[in-house]
Amino acid sequence: MKRVLSGMRPTGKLHLGNYLGALKNWVALQNEYQCFYFVADWHALTTEYEDPKSIRENSLEVVIDWLAAGLDPEKSILFVQSWIKEHAELHLLFSMFTPLSWLERNPTYKEMKQELGEYKELATYGFLGYPVLQAADILIYKAHYVPVGKDQLPHLELTREIARRFNYLYGRCFPEPQPKLTEIPKVPGTDGRKMSKSYNNAIYLADTPEEVWEKLRPMVTDTRRKRKTDPGEPQDCPVYYLHLAFTPEEELRVVEDGCRKAAFGCIECKKRLYNHMMEQLGPVMERRRQWEKRKDEVMDILKEGAKKAREVAQATMEEVRRLMAFAL
Ligand code: TRP
Ligand code: SF4
Repeated sequence: MKRVLSGMRPTGKLHLGNYLGALKNWVALQNEYQCFYFVADWHALTTEYEDPKSIRENSLEVVIDWLAAGLDPEKSILFVQSWIKEHAELHLLFSMFTPLSWLERNPTYKEMKQELGEYKELATYGFLGYPVLQAADILIYKAHYVPVGKDQLPHLELTREIARRFNYLYGRCFPEPQPKLTEIPKVPGTDGRKMSKSYNNAIYLADTPEEVWEKLRPMVTDTRRKRKTDPGEPQDCPVYYLHLAFTPEEELRVVEDGCRKAAFGCIECKKRLYNHMMEQLGPVMERRRQWEKRKDEVMDILKEGAKKAREVAQATMEEVRRLMAFAL
């Protein structure tokens, strides 16, 4: 089986954007590939270095979301990055031959620095080296595919460049990992902007069904539908984009038609959405509540995952040390 690897920074409980944009896809890959999924807690530290305690807490919450969504520890290896010290060693070795210019021209780096740099000192060594650590994460498991969104493509390109440079300098070791582009659906939050924790517009897997409805009910819609008798245009309505993710094809046509002809009001439309959303998310949310009570078991799953991941990472590091003439 070919290997898939991906990581997520533990920024807090996962919302529908994270679920639809990444997690659902991770779950689907489990049957076809040997999957490694990890919490990128060291990566979180590049921006959250002032509050490392929150990273620890968030890491467990993220894994609980994973298990609730259907990541299966019998099929996939689930682990925490910082538990596998070999990532750090490989990162250090890579950092010796990665030209600064490769890092400085990285568009994700430039963007993030501009976005976050206003609030935080981000002209750090670790932040610039973020993609070098990411390359170590990926290459240490010799992953073939990395499911990521478009925003991560520059990091993956850099990973391949680092792999090539290593192979050229010290001898063949690493395959060049390919991205497995996740079709990222448009997932608007309750205010119509992109769903994001920082906009306070998100629906979480940790929400209760009641909370979900309390968020959907006042959600913004096409502003043309001021009254129930005013027709609207689904393409201009954030609620419709959630329908696209949850409502079956035939009923989607009913929704589009009903909206354009003002056959029903927005509240009814949202009720329809809510029902379909709950068909899919109800069981996930229920499982989440169960796992929440079994945090010890979650820790055991992570320890078991770390054991398996470490075995692979250690084997790669032995090869790397030998090739670089650093073997003991
Ligand atoms: N940079 C990724 C993100 O922000 C997280 C990440 C860290 C990652 N290491 C990785 C993703 C390795 C894929 C493979 O989403
Ligand atoms: Fe949006 Fe539905 Fe209202 Fe149309 S009827 S504007 S799709 S909520």
